[in-house]
Amino acid sequence: MRKIVIAGNWKMNKTVAESVKLAADVVAAAKDIKNVVVAIAPTYLALAKVAEVLKGSNVKLAAQDVHWENQGAFTGKVSADMLKEIGVDFVIIGHSEQRTHFGETDETVNKKVKKVQSLDMTPIICIGETLAERKGGRLEAVLTTQVNGAYAGLSADEALRTVIAYEPVWAIGTGVTASDDEAQQAHAFVRSLLTKLYGDNVAQSISIQYGGSMKPENAAGLLAQRDIDGGLIGGAALKADSFLGIVTPGESIKK
Ligand code: PGA
Repeated sequence: MRKIVIAGNWKMNKTVAESVKLAADVVAAAKDIKNVVVAIAPTYLALAKVAEVLKGSNVKLAAQDVHWENQGAFTGKVSADMLKEIGVDFVIIGHSEQRTHFGETDETVNKKVKKVQSLDMTPIICIGETLAERKGGRLEAVLTTQVNGAYAGLSADEALRTVIAYEPVWAIGTGVTASDDEAQQAHAFVRSLLTKLYGDNVAQSISIQYGGSMKPENAAGLLAQRDIDGGLIGGAALKADSFLGIVTPGESIKK
């Protein structure tokens, strides 16, 4: 049995006051959600205030990134300890925007995954191909490198405490979503990679989210696919009603 995990990635949106308001709206809208694990990822700046809003609710707190070192001269960065103290449950790692603009590599993803796990938080490991890679027939090669890189040195027990987000880069923020079939095929391939690394039991237990222009209109179709176990939502997570429009179809789906 896999959990459906749906997380809102707010990216660099919302002031602290706006974040508190949106978090309160999500808590109210999600109060009857039982089967889906719901999480929201505000900016670092808003995490502490949003944590207060989420206390006692069924909505989990996620951070958008982390540094792998404990502390020190890393201007602009935030450590896993700092996130843990605030009550963060999930940490998004290796988002394509981090990879494209801020030099994230499979190696830094791996270091961050290990650090986050050492403090009992759950990494959401983002992978996905660009359009050029897909068109050039390199989809499987790219996903293989990213998965093997992210999971290097992780035991089966550790792998069980991860979530993957498959996010085709060409679908992120573009309004173009992968079709149900395209997404399912990529997810099945990612699961086959996990099977190679850890065997079928473990692979069948790891939730693989889809991300990339997921919205209420396409959520039910995507979530119904065999190997799609949730979503990482950008634009559509910035309003409570559209976010819940993605979460609600997940309530009745069993994996
Ligand atoms: P999007 O972003 O839903 O706006 O495409 C998804 C993501 O980047 O996680």
